[in-house]
Amino acid sequence: MNANVGRIVTASANQGTTAKLSARGIAKRYGATDALLPLDLDVAPGEFVTVLGPSGSGKTTLLQLVAGLVEPTAGALFIDGRDETHTPVHKRGIGVVFQSYALFPHLTVQENVCFPLQMRRIAAAELRRRTDAALEMVGLGTFRDRLPQELSGGQQQRVALARCFVYEPALILMDEPLGALDRKLRETMQIEIKRLHRDTGATIVFVTHDQEEALALSDRICLMNHGRIVQLGAPCEIYEHPASLFAADFIGISNVLRGRIGAGVLETADGPLPLPPEAPELPPGAEAALAIRPEHIELAGPLTGRITESVYAGSEFRLMATLPSGTTLVVRRSAGQDVPAIGDEVSLGWDAGRARLLTE
Ligand SMILES: Nc1ncnc2c1ncn2[C@@H]1O[C@H](COP(=O)(O)OP(=O)(O)OP(=O)(O)O)[C@@H](O)[C@H]1O
Ligand SMILES: [Mg+2]
Repeated sequence: MNANVGRIVTASANQGTTAKLSARGIAKRYGATDALLPLDLDVAPGEFVTVLGPSGSGKTTLLQLVAGLVEPTAGALFIDGRDETHTPVHKRGIGVVFQSYALFPHLTVQENVCFPLQMRRIAAAELRRRTDAALEMVGLGTFRDRLPQELSGGQQQRVALARCFVYEPALILMDEPLGALDRKLRETMQIEIKRLHRDTGATIVFVTHDQEEALALSDRICLMNHGRIVQLGAPCEIYEHPASLFAADFIGISNVLRGRIGAGVLETADGPLPLPPEAPELPPGAEAALAIRPEHIELAGPLTGRITESVYAGSEFRLMATLPSGTTLVVRRSAGQDVPAIGDEVSLGWDAGRARLLTE
């Protein structure tokens, strides 16, 4: 992998306005472990950037560096154009919701939520109004007098969210804030977070390892692996134009067919497959792979496979077709389309322009 790949700066974040947040060569090393390799990142005012990546890729470390909870090994951090690399946590004016929702154990739900307002000496009536609104938002209006230990993990997480949003910070860092919630509540809270983002104009850096959540929430996704940024861009850009097999695989299911470059084709164990029209130039014999989204696979084309699995998923069927080499392809069939049965032999193909030619 290119050694400079972590140094991605997009123009969009930097045009005209001062970035809300700028990291320059920021890095963190623990003993022999590079938790974060030197990286540059600019986040524009009001932007919603999601940091996405597998466990151990450096997401939490990046947020801790921005928050000021850990000292960087190298690099600098600017907030609103000011060098805040060595500013203590409580002077950065950043709202944080962390992976472990550290609530004050001896304060009730209501006291936890209004704590940031008391710190800022907000008048009593205003304090009560905003605390009530924040508790309503997370659906904990009737839990106000409980202590954190009397709440479930998901409820504690919601208290932490309310406590962050209640004082409307201009920069909010959230590390998997919805991790302990069930699916329905998670989706409700996603909508709430989006609404709060729109209403307050806050800049949000949000960490998740859930790619659907990242696609749904973000203006841009910062995809990380092994302590580096491997791709940074709008959700549709990363989804439609993954820069690597890792990105194709991590963002949504991708079908991957590996082989070597031949004359205008990729030679695979299942036969030659056409290269996409805009494929990057690769030398003959080079190892590469075609990545194709399940929704782009059609039941017609150069490959032959056998249906080995069929799962009904409400609005669609997800089929698995196994090729002679043993490679399986995921195919989507929506309601109304004809759906082959398990054991059926099918032809498979795609519009060549839908495939991406990628290397490791
Ligand atoms: N305090 C520490 N001491 C030593 N190593 C650490 C420390 N904190 C993090 N690391 C290492 O740094 C790497 C990145 O960790 P980090 O917590 O940033 O990952 P993450 O992307 O947030 O993962 P997860 O999705 O599991 O939360 C990991 O290899 C981790 O073991
Ligand atoms: Mg983490």
